[in-house]
Amino acid sequence: MFSYTKILLVFFTTLVFSARSCVRDTSTSYAKKDVTSSEEKPRPVNADKSTFEENSEITRAVLITHCGSCHQSSLDTHKPEAIKIFDLDMAANWHTSLSVENLPGIADRIKNKPAITSQQKEAIDTFLKLKEWQSKQ
Ligand code: HEC
Repeated sequence: MFSYTKILLVFFTTLVFSARSCVRDTSTSYAKKDVTSSEEKPRPVNADKSTFEENSEITRAVLITHCGSCHQSSLDTHKPEAIKIFDLDMAANWHTSLSVENLPGIADRIKNKPAITSQQKEAIDTFLKLKEWQSKQ
């Protein structure tokens, strides 16, 4: 009878502990999820100027590779209509002619290019979000 009580006690202790660790596990995974999702959020719109320029430069470098043939005025292959939208030869000012309506067009065109790394896509995404925010000021 005594050993039966002991077994019962051990059983309940195990149950309580596993239940507690379950609860702890759940809260940990929620915490992790929160951290991840906040990392995925766009940078705050009041991001400093250097953040904008850094991401703008990464974007320009990537677009020179993939879009330069038509969007670089110095190249013989350039298209005047494409230059009106943006000219990658304008150095840091390459994006000044871009309107908010053009921004989704950039996002769409880079989406399915495996040569563009996820880090570069992230930088372009940040640039587009900040550019959109700036244009609405
Ligand atoms: C073969 C030439 C060519 C290439 C390469 C090219 N473009 Fe263009 N692009 C044009 C022309 C011409 C226009 C203007 C006519 C039009 O609106 O389609 C244009 C317009 C655009 C527009 C404005 C219209 C819209 O959809 O919002 C965006 C944005 C754009 N291009 C982004 C890009 C990006 C990003 C790349 C590279 C991934 C790229 N283009 C590569 C020729 C090109």
